[in-house]
Amino acid sequence: MEERKGFGTNFGFLMAAVGSAVGLGNIWGFPNKMGASGGFTFLIIYLILAVCCGFIVMVGELAIGRKTGKGAVAAYHAISKKFKWMGWMGILSAFLILFFYCALGGYCIKYTVVNIGDLFNASFGSGAAAELAAANDTSVGAEVFGAFIGNPTEAIIYGLIFVALTMLIVLGGVGGGIEKVCSVGMPALFVALLICIIRACTLPGAVNGLKYMFVPGWAVTNGVIEKAPDFLTVLATAGGQMFFSLSLGMGAMITYGSYLQKKENIQKNALLIVIMDTLVALMAGLCVLPGRFALDPNGALGGPKLLFITMQNVFDRMDAVGPIFGIIFYLLVVFAAISSSISLLEVIVAHFVDKARDEGKGDKRKAYTLIAAACVGLGCILVCADALGTTGFAPGNLLGMTGDLPTWAADWLDFFDMLSEGIMMPLGAMLMSLMIGWEIGPEVIKGEVEQSGHAMGSYGFFKICVKFITPLCMILILYGQIKEFFF
Ligand code: PFF
Repeated sequence: MEERKGFGTNFGFLMAAVGSAVGLGNIWGFPNKMGASGGFTFLIIYLILAVCCGFIVMVGELAIGRKTGKGAVAAYHAISKKFKWMGWMGILSAFLILFFYCALGGYCIKYTVVNIGDLFNASFGSGAAAELAAANDTSVGAEVFGAFIGNPTEAIIYGLIFVALTMLIVLGGVGGGIEKVCSVGMPALFVALLICIIRACTLPGAVNGLKYMFVPGWAVTNGVIEKAPDFLTVLATAGGQMFFSLSLGMGAMITYGSYLQKKENIQKNALLIVIMDTLVALMAGLCVLPGRFALDPNGALGGPKLLFITMQNVFDRMDAVGPIFGIIFYLLVVFAAISSSISLLEVIVAHFVDKARDEGKGDKRKAYTLIAAACVGLGCILVCADALGTTGFAPGNLLGMTGDLPTWAADWLDFFDMLSEGIMMPLGAMLMSLMIGWEIGPEVIKGEVEQSGHAMGSYGFFKICVKFITPLCMILILYGQIKEFFF
Protein backbone atom coordinates (compact mmCIF):
# COMPACT_ATOMS: atom_id res chain seq x y z
CA MET A 1 0.00 0.00 0.00
CA GLU A 2 1.15 3.59 -0.68
CA GLU A 3 2.92 5.24 2.26
CA ARG A 4 1.10 8.17 3.95
CA LYS A 5 3.65 10.99 3.84
CA GLY A 6 3.59 13.58 6.64
CA PHE A 7 5.58 16.54 7.96
CA GLY A 8 9.36 16.11 7.74
CA THR A 9 10.25 18.24 10.76
CA ASN A 10 8.54 19.63 13.84
CA PHE A 11 9.42 23.15 12.66
CA GLY A 12 7.62 22.47 9.39
CA PHE A 13 4.56 21.19 11.25
CA LEU A 14 4.57 24.17 13.59
CA MET A 15 4.83 26.68 10.76
CA ALA A 16 2.00 24.94 8.87
CA ALA A 17 -0.24 24.87 11.95
CA VAL A 18 0.55 28.50 12.84
CA GLY A 19 0.00 29.32 9.16
CA SER A 20 -3.45 27.76 9.36
CA ALA A 21 -4.24 29.73 12.50
CA VAL A 22 -2.86 33.06 11.32
CA GLY A 23 -5.17 34.46 8.67
CA LEU A 24 -7.71 37.12 7.87
CA GLY A 25 -9.28 36.55 11.29
CA ASN A 26 -6.14 37.87 12.99
CA ILE A 27 -5.80 40.89 10.78
CA TRP A 28 -9.29 42.29 10.50
CA GLY A 29 -11.09 40.51 13.30
CA PHE A 30 -9.03 40.51 16.46
CA PRO A 31 -7.78 44.14 16.69
CA ASN A 32 -11.19 45.66 16.11
CA LYS A 33 -13.03 43.24 18.38
CA MET A 34 -10.49 43.95 21.10
CA GLY A 35 -10.87 47.72 20.70
CA ALA A 36 -14.66 47.65 20.64
CA SER A 37 -14.98 45.15 23.48
CA GLY A 38 -12.94 46.73 26.24
CA GLY A 39 -9.25 46.66 25.25
CA PHE A 40 -7.15 44.91 27.88
CA THR A 41 -10.26 43.50 29.55
CA PHE A 42 -11.12 41.73 26.29
CA LEU A 43 -7.54 40.51 25.99
CA ILE A 44 -7.69 38.94 29.43
CA ILE A 45 -11.00 37.20 28.68
CA TYR A 46 -9.58 36.05 25.33
CA LEU A 47 -6.47 34.65 27.00
CA ILE A 48 -8.47 32.80 29.67
CA LEU A 49 -10.66 31.28 26.94
CA ALA A 50 -7.60 30.49 24.85
CA VAL A 51 -6.11 28.51 27.75
CA CYS A 52 -9.30 26.85 29.04
CA CYS A 53 -10.90 26.12 25.66
CA GLY A 54 -8.49 26.81 22.79
CA PHE A 55 -5.48 24.97 24.19
CA ILE A 56 -7.67 22.08 25.38
CA VAL A 57 -9.41 21.55 22.04
CA MET A 58 -6.10 22.04 20.21
CA VAL A 59 -4.43 19.25 22.25
CA GLY A 60 -7.53 17.06 21.75
CA GLU A 61 -7.64 17.57 17.97
CA LEU A 62 -3.90 17.07 17.43
CA ALA A 63 -3.90 13.94 19.62
CA ILE A 64 -6.94 12.40 17.93
CA GLY A 65 -5.42 13.11 14.52
CA ARG A 66 -2.09 11.55 15.43
CA LYS A 67 -3.63 8.58 17.24
CA THR A 68 -5.78 7.58 14.29
CA GLY A 69 -3.41 8.76 11.55
CA LYS A 70 -6.50 9.75 9.55
CA GLY A 71 -8.31 12.82 8.24
CA ALA A 72 -11.31 14.25 10.12
CA VAL A 73 -14.05 11.85 8.95
CA ALA A 74 -12.13 8.62 9.46
CA ALA A 75 -10.62 9.91 12.72
CA TYR A 76 -14.05 10.51 14.30
CA HIS A 77 -15.25 7.24 12.87
CA ALA A 78 -12.36 5.35 14.43
CA ILE A 79 -12.75 6.92 17.82
CA SER A 80 -16.42 7.48 18.59
CA LYS A 81 -19.74 5.77 18.00
CA LYS A 82 -21.90 8.78 18.82
CA PHE A 83 -19.85 11.52 17.20
CA LYS A 84 -18.72 9.82 14.01
CA TRP A 85 -20.77 12.16 11.83
CA MET A 86 -18.80 15.16 13.04
CA GLY A 87 -16.00 14.71 10.52
CA TRP A 88 -18.51 15.47 7.78
CA MET A 89 -19.49 18.68 9.54
CA GLY A 90 -15.78 19.59 9.43
CA ILE A 91 -15.64 18.98 5.68
CA LEU A 92 -18.74 21.08 5.14
CA SER A 93 -17.30 23.91 7.29
CA ALA A 94 -14.06 23.74 5.29
CA PHE A 95 -15.99 24.22 2.03
CA LEU A 96 -18.07 27.11 3.41
CA ILE A 97 -15.04 28.94 4.78
CA LEU A 98 -13.10 28.37 1.56
CA PHE A 99 -15.92 29.91 -0.49
CA PHE A 100 -15.49 33.32 1.11
CA TYR A 101 -11.85 32.99 2.07
CA CYS A 102 -10.77 32.48 -1.55
CA ALA A 103 -12.89 35.41 -2.72
CA LEU A 104 -11.20 37.63 -0.12
CA GLY A 105 -7.77 36.18 -0.93
CA GLY A 106 -8.43 37.21 -4.52
CA TYR A 107 -9.30 40.75 -3.39
CA CYS A 108 -5.91 40.87 -1.60
CA ILE A 109 -4.06 39.82 -4.76
CA LYS A 110 -5.88 42.58 -6.63
CA TYR A 111 -4.77 45.16 -4.04
CA THR A 112 -1.16 43.98 -4.29
CA VAL A 113 -1.42 44.59 -8.04
CA VAL A 114 -2.97 48.05 -7.51
CA ASN A 115 -0.09 49.04 -5.24
CA ILE A 116 2.46 47.71 -7.73
CA GLY A 117 0.69 49.88 -10.31
CA ASP A 118 1.01 52.89 -8.00
CA LEU A 119 4.70 52.25 -7.49
CA PHE A 120 5.33 52.42 -11.23
CA ASN A 121 2.62 54.98 -12.01
CA ALA A 122 1.01 52.38 -14.23
CA SER A 123 -2.57 52.41 -15.51
CA PHE A 124 -3.53 49.51 -13.22
CA GLY A 125 -2.68 51.61 -10.14
CA SER A 126 -5.21 53.78 -8.29
CA GLY A 127 -4.81 56.84 -10.57
CA ALA A 128 -8.32 56.65 -12.07
CA ALA A 129 -9.80 56.12 -8.61
CA ALA A 130 -7.95 59.21 -7.34
CA GLU A 131 -9.58 61.32 -10.07
CA LEU A 132 -13.02 59.95 -9.22
CA ALA A 133 -12.41 60.51 -5.51
CA ALA A 134 -11.58 64.16 -6.16
CA ALA A 135 -14.65 64.60 -8.37
CA ASN A 136 -17.06 62.76 -6.04
CA ASP A 137 -15.51 63.98 -2.79
CA THR A 138 -14.94 60.42 -1.60
CA SER A 139 -11.71 58.58 -0.85
CA VAL A 140 -9.32 56.71 -3.13
CA GLY A 141 -9.83 53.51 -1.13
CA ALA A 142 -13.61 53.78 -1.52
CA GLU A 143 -13.32 54.33 -5.28
CA VAL A 144 -10.85 51.47 -5.81
CA PHE A 145 -13.11 49.15 -3.83
CA GLY A 146 -16.30 50.37 -5.49
CA ALA A 147 -14.84 49.87 -8.96
CA PHE A 148 -13.53 46.44 -8.04
CA ILE A 149 -16.67 44.99 -6.56
CA GLY A 150 -18.68 46.71 -9.28
CA ASN A 151 -16.82 44.49 -11.74
CA PRO A 152 -17.61 40.93 -10.62
CA THR A 153 -15.76 39.39 -13.58
CA GLU A 154 -12.50 40.87 -12.35
CA ALA A 155 -13.23 39.78 -8.77
CA ILE A 156 -13.99 36.25 -10.03
CA ILE A 157 -10.72 36.09 -11.97
CA TYR A 158 -8.69 37.12 -8.91
CA GLY A 159 -10.68 34.74 -6.68
CA LEU A 160 -9.96 31.86 -9.05
CA ILE A 161 -6.26 32.77 -9.15
CA PHE A 162 -6.29 32.41 -5.37
CA VAL A 163 -8.07 29.04 -5.60
CA ALA A 164 -5.47 27.90 -8.16
CA LEU A 165 -2.56 28.91 -5.91
CA THR A 166 -4.12 27.06 -2.97
CA MET A 167 -4.64 24.03 -5.19
CA LEU A 168 -1.07 24.01 -6.47
CA ILE A 169 0.36 23.95 -2.94
CA VAL A 170 -2.00 21.18 -1.80
CA LEU A 171 -1.14 19.20 -4.95
CA GLY A 172 2.45 19.15 -3.69
CA GLY A 173 1.31 17.18 -0.63
CA VAL A 174 1.87 17.84 3.05
CA GLY A 175 5.67 17.53 3.25
CA GLY A 176 6.36 18.70 -0.31
CA GLY A 177 3.87 21.54 -0.69
CA ILE A 178 2.36 22.73 2.58
CA GLU A 179 5.41 22.31 4.82
CA LYS A 180 7.86 23.87 2.35
CA VAL A 181 5.70 26.90 1.63
CA CYS A 182 4.90 27.59 5.30
CA SER A 183 8.48 27.07 6.54
CA VAL A 184 9.64 29.94 4.36
CA GLY A 185 6.46 32.01 4.25
CA MET A 186 5.62 32.24 7.95
CA PRO A 187 8.98 33.72 9.06
CA ALA A 188 8.75 36.10 6.07
CA LEU A 189 5.25 37.13 7.15
CA PHE A 190 6.56 37.89 10.62
CA VAL A 191 9.30 40.16 9.24
CA ALA A 192 6.85 41.92 6.90
CA LEU A 193 4.53 42.53 9.83
CA LEU A 194 7.38 44.05 11.86
CA ILE A 195 8.23 46.41 9.00
CA CYS A 196 4.59 47.53 8.73
CA ILE A 197 4.31 47.99 12.51
CA ILE A 198 7.36 50.26 12.61
CA ARG A 199 5.93 52.42 9.82
CA ALA A 200 2.42 52.52 11.28
CA CYS A 201 3.42 53.28 14.87
CA THR A 202 5.70 56.16 13.85
CA LEU A 203 2.95 58.04 11.99
CA PRO A 204 1.73 61.20 13.76
CA GLY A 205 -1.54 60.41 15.59
CA ALA A 206 -0.80 56.67 15.69
CA VAL A 207 -1.07 56.63 19.45
CA ASN A 208 -4.88 56.79 19.28
CA GLY A 209 -4.87 53.43 17.54
CA LEU A 210 -2.95 51.98 20.45
CA LYS A 211 -5.33 53.60 22.94
CA TYR A 212 -8.35 52.24 21.05
CA MET A 213 -6.91 48.77 21.14
CA PHE A 214 -5.57 48.62 24.68
CA VAL A 215 -7.21 51.17 27.01
CA PRO A 216 -10.48 49.85 28.54
CA GLY A 217 -13.41 52.17 27.79
CA TRP A 218 -11.40 54.49 25.50
CA ALA A 219 -13.54 53.65 22.46
CA VAL A 220 -16.75 54.66 24.23
CA THR A 221 -15.36 57.77 25.97
CA ASN A 222 -14.04 59.04 22.67
CA GLY A 223 -17.17 58.31 20.69
CA VAL A 224 -15.59 55.66 18.44
CA ILE A 225 -18.38 53.28 19.44
CA GLU A 226 -21.70 54.17 21.03
CA LYS A 227 -21.81 51.89 24.04
CA ALA A 228 -19.76 49.11 25.54
CA PRO A 229 -21.07 45.60 24.83
CA ASP A 230 -22.38 43.52 27.77
CA PHE A 231 -20.38 40.67 29.27
CA LEU A 232 -22.10 37.86 27.38
CA THR A 233 -21.53 39.64 24.08
CA VAL A 234 -17.86 40.14 24.93
CA LEU A 235 -17.53 36.46 25.88
CA ALA A 236 -19.22 35.33 22.68
CA THR A 237 -17.13 37.72 20.58
CA ALA A 238 -13.88 36.56 22.20
CA GLY A 239 -14.85 32.89 22.01
CA GLY A 240 -16.07 32.97 18.41
CA GLN A 241 -12.97 34.89 17.36
CA MET A 242 -10.71 32.44 19.18
CA PHE A 243 -12.10 29.29 17.56
CA PHE A 244 -12.00 30.77 14.11
CA SER A 245 -8.55 32.21 14.69
CA LEU A 246 -7.12 28.94 16.01
CA SER A 247 -8.75 26.91 13.19
CA LEU A 248 -10.52 24.70 15.73
CA GLY A 249 -13.77 22.78 15.71
CA MET A 250 -13.74 21.66 12.09
CA GLY A 251 -11.01 19.07 11.71
CA ALA A 252 -8.12 21.18 10.43
CA MET A 253 -5.93 20.41 13.42
CA ILE A 254 -7.05 16.74 13.41
CA THR A 255 -5.86 16.56 9.82
CA TYR A 256 -2.51 18.26 10.50
CA GLY A 257 -2.11 16.17 13.68
CA SER A 258 -2.56 13.01 11.62
CA TYR A 259 0.67 13.84 9.76
CA LEU A 260 2.66 14.47 12.96
CA GLN A 261 5.36 12.03 14.03
CA LYS A 262 4.96 10.11 17.30
CA LYS A 263 8.15 11.58 18.74
CA GLU A 264 6.82 15.15 18.63
CA ASN A 265 5.50 16.87 21.75
CA ILE A 266 1.80 17.68 21.21
CA GLN A 267 1.39 19.63 24.45
CA LYS A 268 4.27 21.98 23.66
CA ASN A 269 3.21 22.40 20.04
CA ALA A 270 -0.39 23.22 21.02
CA LEU A 271 0.80 25.88 23.46
CA LEU A 272 3.15 27.40 20.88
CA ILE A 273 0.40 27.56 18.25
CA VAL A 274 -1.95 29.38 20.68
CA ILE A 275 0.80 31.81 21.77
CA MET A 276 1.99 32.58 18.24
CA ASP A 277 -1.51 33.07 16.89
CA THR A 278 -2.36 35.52 19.68
CA LEU A 279 0.96 37.31 19.22
CA VAL A 280 0.34 37.79 15.50
CA ALA A 281 -3.21 39.01 16.20
CA LEU A 282 -1.81 41.65 18.59
CA MET A 283 0.91 42.55 16.09
CA ALA A 284 -1.68 42.91 13.32
CA GLY A 285 -3.49 45.38 15.58
CA LEU A 286 -0.27 47.37 16.01
CA CYS A 287 -0.06 47.58 12.24
CA VAL A 288 -3.61 48.36 11.09
CA LEU A 289 -5.12 50.46 13.88
CA PRO A 290 -2.37 53.11 14.25
CA GLY A 291 -2.49 53.51 10.46
CA ARG A 292 -6.25 53.93 10.49
CA PHE A 293 -6.28 56.46 13.36
CA ALA A 294 -3.38 58.44 11.89
CA LEU A 295 -4.39 58.62 8.23
CA ASP A 296 -8.07 57.67 7.87
CA PRO A 297 -9.69 58.65 11.19
CA ASN A 298 -13.23 58.04 9.90
CA GLY A 299 -12.39 54.75 8.20
CA ALA A 300 -13.76 51.30 9.05
CA LEU A 301 -12.13 49.57 12.01
CA GLY A 302 -12.64 45.94 10.99
CA GLY A 303 -13.93 43.55 8.33
CA PRO A 304 -13.44 43.79 4.55
CA LYS A 305 -13.84 47.59 4.58
CA LEU A 306 -10.87 47.98 6.93
CA LEU A 307 -8.70 45.90 4.65
CA PHE A 308 -9.87 47.19 1.30
CA ILE A 309 -10.90 50.80 1.89
CA THR A 310 -9.27 52.11 5.06
CA MET A 311 -5.87 50.48 4.53
CA GLN A 312 -5.75 51.54 0.88
CA ASN A 313 -6.47 55.12 2.02
CA VAL A 314 -3.65 54.78 4.55
CA PHE A 315 -1.17 53.79 1.82
CA ASP A 316 -2.52 56.45 -0.50
CA ARG A 317 -2.01 59.15 2.14
CA MET A 318 1.53 58.11 3.04
CA ASP A 319 4.22 59.90 1.08
CA ALA A 320 6.03 58.35 -1.90
CA VAL A 321 6.74 55.15 0.06
CA GLY A 322 3.00 54.37 0.39
CA PRO A 323 2.87 51.86 -2.48
CA ILE A 324 5.92 50.03 -1.13
CA PHE A 325 4.24 49.52 2.24
CA GLY A 326 1.03 48.71 0.40
CA ILE A 327 2.76 45.93 -1.52
CA ILE A 328 4.43 44.54 1.62
CA PHE A 329 1.15 44.69 3.56
CA TYR A 330 -1.11 43.11 0.95
CA LEU A 331 1.44 40.39 0.13
CA LEU A 332 1.55 39.63 3.85
CA VAL A 333 -2.22 39.33 3.92
CA VAL A 334 -2.26 37.17 0.76
CA PHE A 335 0.19 34.81 2.40
CA ALA A 336 -1.67 34.74 5.71
CA ALA A 337 -4.80 33.83 3.75
CA ILE A 338 -3.09 31.17 1.61
CA SER A 339 -1.47 29.42 4.56
CA SER A 340 -4.99 29.15 6.03
CA SER A 341 -6.76 28.14 2.84
CA ILE A 342 -4.32 25.28 2.18
CA SER A 343 -5.16 23.82 5.59
CA LEU A 344 -8.86 24.08 4.75
CA LEU A 345 -8.43 22.37 1.39
CA GLU A 346 -6.28 19.70 3.02
CA VAL A 347 -9.15 18.81 5.40
CA ILE A 348 -11.22 17.87 2.35
CA VAL A 349 -8.47 16.32 0.24
CA ALA A 350 -6.96 14.24 3.08
CA HIS A 351 -10.26 12.47 3.66
CA PHE A 352 -10.76 11.33 0.08
CA VAL A 353 -7.07 10.53 -0.49
CA ASP A 354 -6.95 8.37 2.66
CA LYS A 355 -10.12 6.58 1.66
CA ALA A 356 -8.78 5.79 -1.80
CA ARG A 357 -5.50 4.57 -0.32
CA ASP A 358 -7.30 2.34 2.19
CA GLU A 359 -9.32 0.85 -0.66
CA GLY A 360 -6.07 0.04 -2.48
CA LYS A 361 -6.67 2.58 -5.26
CA GLY A 362 -3.21 4.18 -4.86
CA ASP A 363 -2.34 7.84 -4.46
CA LYS A 364 -5.28 9.88 -5.72
CA ARG A 365 -4.11 13.27 -4.36
CA LYS A 366 -4.00 14.89 -7.79
CA ALA A 367 -7.50 13.89 -8.79
CA TYR A 368 -9.16 14.79 -5.48
CA THR A 369 -7.31 18.09 -5.15
CA LEU A 370 -8.53 19.10 -8.60
CA ILE A 371 -12.12 18.05 -7.89
CA ALA A 372 -12.21 19.77 -4.47
CA ALA A 373 -10.65 22.94 -5.90
CA ALA A 374 -13.24 22.97 -8.71
CA CYS A 375 -16.07 22.84 -6.14
CA VAL A 376 -14.40 25.59 -4.09
CA GLY A 377 -14.06 27.62 -7.28
CA LEU A 378 -17.83 27.48 -7.81
CA GLY A 379 -18.56 28.77 -4.28
CA CYS A 380 -15.92 31.46 -4.72
CA ILE A 381 -17.59 32.58 -7.97
CA LEU A 382 -20.89 32.93 -6.10
CA VAL A 383 -19.32 35.11 -3.39
CA CYS A 384 -17.47 37.28 -5.93
CA ALA A 385 -20.54 37.67 -8.17
CA ASP A 386 -22.63 38.65 -5.14
CA ALA A 387 -20.18 41.55 -4.60
CA LEU A 388 -20.97 41.89 -0.89
CA GLY A 389 -24.73 41.81 -1.49
CA THR A 390 -24.82 44.57 -4.11
CA THR A 391 -26.04 42.55 -7.09
CA GLY A 392 -29.49 41.54 -5.88
CA PHE A 393 -29.18 37.83 -5.17
CA ALA A 394 -28.04 37.85 -1.54
CA PRO A 395 -29.57 35.07 0.63
CA GLY A 396 -32.10 37.56 2.01
CA ASN A 397 -33.20 38.57 -1.52
CA LEU A 398 -33.63 34.94 -2.53
CA LEU A 399 -35.65 34.26 0.63
CA GLY A 400 -37.92 37.19 -0.25
CA MET A 401 -36.97 39.15 2.88
CA THR A 402 -37.72 42.88 2.71
CA GLY A 403 -36.48 46.00 4.50
CA ASP A 404 -33.05 46.16 6.14
CA LEU A 405 -31.58 42.68 5.86
CA PRO A 406 -29.88 41.18 8.94
CA THR A 407 -26.12 40.77 8.46
CA TRP A 408 -26.24 37.02 7.77
CA ALA A 409 -28.80 37.51 5.00
CA ALA A 410 -27.28 40.63 3.45
CA ASP A 411 -24.60 38.86 1.41
CA TRP A 412 -23.23 35.37 0.74
CA LEU A 413 -19.94 36.09 2.49
CA ASP A 414 -21.69 36.79 5.78
CA PHE A 415 -24.08 33.89 5.26
CA PHE A 416 -21.25 31.36 4.86
CA ASP A 417 -19.40 33.02 7.74
CA MET A 418 -22.45 32.80 10.00
CA LEU A 419 -22.89 29.09 9.30
CA SER A 420 -19.23 28.15 9.72
CA GLU A 421 -17.61 30.58 12.18
CA GLY A 422 -20.85 31.43 13.97
CA ILE A 423 -22.41 28.03 14.45
CA MET A 424 -20.57 24.99 13.15
CA MET A 425 -17.11 25.71 14.58
CA PRO A 426 -18.18 26.47 18.18
CA LEU A 427 -20.60 23.53 17.97
CA GLY A 428 -17.81 21.29 16.68
CA ALA A 429 -15.50 22.38 19.50
CA MET A 430 -18.19 21.83 22.12
CA LEU A 431 -19.01 18.34 20.85
CA MET A 432 -15.31 17.52 20.62
CA SER A 433 -14.77 18.38 24.31
CA LEU A 434 -17.90 16.40 25.30
CA MET A 435 -16.68 13.44 23.29
CA ILE A 436 -13.24 13.49 24.92
CA GLY A 437 -14.56 14.24 28.41
CA TRP A 438 -17.51 11.86 28.53
CA GLU A 439 -17.31 9.26 25.78
CA ILE A 440 -13.75 8.20 25.05
CA GLY A 441 -12.24 9.63 28.26
CA PRO A 442 -9.40 12.15 28.70
CA GLU A 443 -6.93 9.35 29.50
CA VAL A 444 -6.98 8.35 25.81
CA ILE A 445 -5.61 11.79 24.94
CA LYS A 446 -3.03 11.52 27.72
CA GLY A 447 -1.89 8.16 26.35
CA GLU A 448 -1.41 9.62 22.88
CA VAL A 449 0.30 12.81 24.08
CA GLU A 450 2.77 10.76 26.15
CA GLN A 451 3.78 8.64 23.13
CA SER A 452 6.50 11.24 22.60
CA GLY A 453 8.10 10.22 25.89
CA HIS A 454 7.16 13.53 27.57
CA ALA A 455 4.79 13.42 30.56
CA MET A 456 1.54 15.34 30.04
CA GLY A 457 2.12 17.88 32.83
CA SER A 458 -1.17 19.64 32.11
CA TYR A 459 -3.29 16.47 32.47
CA GLY A 460 -5.09 17.47 35.71
CA PHE A 461 -6.01 20.83 34.20
CA PHE A 462 -6.90 19.23 30.86
CA LYS A 463 -9.24 16.75 32.53
CA ILE A 464 -11.23 19.36 34.50
CA CYS A 465 -11.45 21.68 31.51
CA VAL A 466 -12.44 19.10 28.93
CA LYS A 467 -15.17 17.63 31.14
CA PHE A 468 -16.68 20.78 32.64
CA ILE A 469 -15.15 24.17 31.89
CA THR A 470 -14.74 23.93 28.10
CA PRO A 471 -18.29 22.63 27.35
CA LEU A 472 -19.78 25.23 29.69
CA CYS A 473 -17.88 28.10 28.08
CA MET A 474 -18.81 26.70 24.68
CA ILE A 475 -22.52 26.72 25.50
CA LEU A 476 -22.29 30.39 26.51
CA ILE A 477 -20.27 31.26 23.42
CA LEU A 478 -22.65 29.42 21.11
CA TYR A 479 -25.67 31.03 22.74
CA GLY A 480 -24.06 34.49 22.44
CA GLN A 481 -23.14 33.90 18.78
CA ILE A 482 -26.65 32.77 17.83
CA LYS A 483 -28.20 35.67 19.75
CA GLU A 484 -25.92 38.12 17.96
CA PHE A 485 -26.73 36.76 14.53
CA PHE A 486 -30.45 36.37 14.85
CA PHE A 487 -31.77 38.71 17.56
N1 PFF B 1 -7.64 30.67 11.35
C1 PFF B 1 -7.99 31.35 10.13
C2 PFF B 1 -8.06 32.85 10.39
O1 PFF B 1 -7.87 33.30 11.53
O2 PFF B 1 -8.32 33.59 9.45
C3 PFF B 1 -9.29 30.84 9.55
C4 PFF B 1 -9.38 29.34 9.46
C5 PFF B 1 -8.38 28.62 8.80
C6 PFF B 1 -10.40 28.67 10.07
C7 PFF B 1 -8.42 27.24 8.76
C8 PFF B 1 -10.45 27.29 10.04
C9 PFF B 1 -9.45 26.59 9.39
F1 PFF B 1 -9.50 25.30 9.33
